[in-house]
Amino acid sequence: MNHSASRKVVFYSTRPYEKQVFTELLDARNKTLSSPIEATFYEHPLTASTASGSKGFSDVVVFVNDDVNAHTLNVLKENDVRHVALRCAGYNNVDINAAAKAGISVSRVPAYSPETVAEHTLALILTLNRKTHKAYNRVREGNFNLQGLMGFTLHQKYVGVIGTGKIGKAVIRILLGFGCNVLCFDPEPFPSVERMGAKYVSLDELLSKSIIITLHCPLNENSHHIINANSIAKMRDGVMLINTSRGGLIDDNAIVKGLKSKKIGYLGLDVYERESELFFSDHSQDIIQDDVFQRLTTFPNVLITGHQGFFTHEALHEIGEITLDNILNGGNRI
Ligand code: NAI
Repeated sequence: MNHSASRKVVFYSTRPYEKQVFTELLDARNKTLSSPIEATFYEHPLTASTASGSKGFSDVVVFVNDDVNAHTLNVLKENDVRHVALRCAGYNNVDINAAAKAGISVSRVPAYSPETVAEHTLALILTLNRKTHKAYNRVREGNFNLQGLMGFTLHQKYVGVIGTGKIGKAVIRILLGFGCNVLCFDPEPFPSVERMGAKYVSLDELLSKSIIITLHCPLNENSHHIINANSIAKMRDGVMLINTSRGGLIDDNAIVKGLKSKKIGYLGLDVYERESELFFSDHSQDIIQDDVFQRLTTFPNVLITGHQGFFTHEALHEIGEITLDNILNGGNRI
């Protein structure tokens, strides 16, 4: 319990569902605190030009697409912000060195129901394979023709999992339940993964053997564009590629070429490299300027969701609780 002076906290990029969860959690927490947390919710993102709005707040709470670069951090420092709390796991959007130089601590939510993202990964795989999104529309229109809906049986197929941390392991558990042969690549392998029944192989072997490849590694300088023209060339013809991790893992120009040549047979994305300009907002009345994204949406074998892998009631609740713990108790500092 924190008995220090009251904390003023500002949330950037807040959506109504988040405001509701955090308000409920704060109401409950404040009853137990001698000095309540005062929260302000901004809908706009944090960038160098919106950082001025942090004046008077000790803590800034941000999400996946807020741009916490060195310029932003300088403004936060001038405004005496002491802590940036990420309400997500990935922190590729924060300049950690610049934060340390500015004396601003950074926290994140390293784990919240990894099964949540794993289950969405399987939703993409199963939908792309069995085409339930197309069947839904056909049946509603009275069209019961099965032409074009044929899938493949997952049982005993080779599936490659790149990154075997918390989410990767949850995906592996589910895939093993389907009876798949799971091949994994991770620079830091876990003995528990092999005990579960999956097998670590080189990245090249994974790429060349897997009929489905799913990405669960963080975005960093080593993993940026890990899926590129070279790695795609090593894949099986008609491979299914799934990315619920971070958009920057994939070179999307190479992906478009791979789809056009039919090397890539299915693509499921929950993340996109330039998603900050699109995701989490309604652009249905706008002319979308990102031609690569628009091209991707024209392929019949591409399924894109707008970064909703984390989006369950349970996960949002856990994210909220851990973020408030991080603010109050200084936990999960990076
Ligand atoms: P984690 O830190 O538990 O596991 C990541 C694993 O990737 C580690 O075992 C690490 O050794 C491995 N790795 C690092 N570099 C690699 C490389 N170059 N190639 C292969 N493996 C590599 O992370 P967790 O919790 O499993 O999350 C994974 C990613 O999922 C996060 O970094 C985040 O970007 C993404 N994510 C997406 C969400 C969504 O809503 N779509 C929600 C939460 C996380």
